[in-house]
Amino acid sequence: MTTPTESGPAPATALSPEPGNGGRLLAAGAASLAEHVARLGPVPYRGRPAQLVDELRAAGLTGRGGAGFPMWRKLAAALGPDAAGGPDAAGGQAWSGPASVVANAAESEPESAKDAWLLTRAPHLVLDGLALVAEAVSAADAYVYVKAGPAAEAVGRALAERRAARVDQRPAEVRLAPPGVFVAGEASAAAAVVDGGAAKPFPQFVPLAAQAPRGAGRQGRLRRSLVVCNAETLAHLALLARHGAAWFRERGTVDEPGTMLVTVGGAVVSPGLVEVPIGATLAEVVGRAGGAAERPGAIRVGGYGGSWLSADRTPDVPLSRAGLAAWDAAPGPGLVHVLPARACGLAETARLAGYLAAQSAGQCGPCRAGLPELAAAAGQLAGGGGLTGSWARQAAEVAELVDGRGACRHPDGAARLVRSALRVFAADLHAHAAGRCAGSGG
Ligand SMILES: Cc1cc2nc3c(=O)[nH]c(=O)nc-3n(C[C@H](O)[C@H](O)[C@H](O)COP(=O)(O)O)c2cc1C
Ligand code: SF4
Repeated sequence: MTTPTESGPAPATALSPEPGNGGRLLAAGAASLAEHVARLGPVPYRGRPAQLVDELRAAGLTGRGGAGFPMWRKLAAALGPDAAGGPDAAGGQAWSGPASVVANAAESEPESAKDAWLLTRAPHLVLDGLALVAEAVSAADAYVYVKAGPAAEAVGRALAERRAARVDQRPAEVRLAPPGVFVAGEASAAAAVVDGGAAKPFPQFVPLAAQAPRGAGRQGRLRRSLVVCNAETLAHLALLARHGAAWFRERGTVDEPGTMLVTVGGAVVSPGLVEVPIGATLAEVVGRAGGAAERPGAIRVGGYGGSWLSADRTPDVPLSRAGLAAWDAAPGPGLVHVLPARACGLAETARLAGYLAAQSAGQCGPCRAGLPELAAAAGQLAGGGGLTGSWARQAAEVAELVDGRGACRHPDGAARLVRSALRVFAADLHAHAAGRCAGSGG
């Protein structure tokens, strides 16, 4: 059998840092505060929350941390019923008392490189966005949640510059995310760390807005209300607050405006970070990373808990939530990974499912019992050996069982990954049952 050849470290170089190549964030980078302000000017909107909510609503900025939740709704929820949009916008809930705001740069997806890049090369963009949200909701405090390393050091330097220049009403602080913990980036885990607890999701966390993907919430065990935003979301916010909603909508689709950072990895000529308009096709995205380095068998979008798509059937599929929905897929935090045809998709799925099972916080039934079972079934499918049909049924059943039943969305990703493998590598299941493997490209 072919052994998996895919994994490799996350790429960290930006491939398209210049403007004109779809680049907004990648082109706006300035490490020093002086250069940042010289290029972009000061932060607008200070102390005008309703205007910021209106601008965000007009721009249609959605969260770039994975769930794609509308940013204006999150802000309106944090502001309460009197904010633009009223109580309906906030899902009918609001809290009283000052909130804390968190820039989530934990980047727990092993293949992702965008948030570390932003904090290292354009930290003031993220910090401007954080300041805008913090000041809009009159936050008691603000945090950057990031793993120890160059990105944390860069943001520490940037925060010192801002403190010296008195840029922010509430200077932010760094809180460290643990390395190598997949669920540590989940919003309630980030909230827990800021609140002085352990970096794991907590089941009692209640999202504020009715459909809020754990991006804003409050709950008993926390001592404060938290607004958690992905670092890239805040960087977009900093630009659109300066340039306006119409400018923001010049790229992307009507429903999902703007650009997104995408970490492209696997069998491509130049693995790295690109910035594309939302809705760019998968072929365009892979092309921006130099194209496939060898014949591709499948493309995984959305990260470890993402979905496999067949490489030859999907080059024209848009990288957007709407474009990928029909394929039971989503862009996630902007991840595209090309699996070469010679590599075994089932073995790769087993490896990823095993990782996701081992990375659960082990607090809820679906994670404790379901994910090991799912990983075991995926392992059996990769190994082949006669009982493939019953293992495939088992995998499909467990995926169905765990999906949507955890306190956070960690199990959903594992279920989506395995379901997509059963679809895309269906022909390989038969080959494996007969003790053969021709790789993911048939
Ligand atoms: C298992 C898991 C891991 C996550 N890891 C991250 C992460 O590392 N960084 C991040 O911004 N969001 C992560 N998220 C998404 C957050 O829960 C949350 O939706 C996001 O930070 C909200 O910001 P946004 O609305 O700006 O996207 C993760 C979600 C799950 C279920
Ligand atoms: S679903 Fe899994 S990762 Fe999420 S809170 Fe429950 S045990 Fe933790």
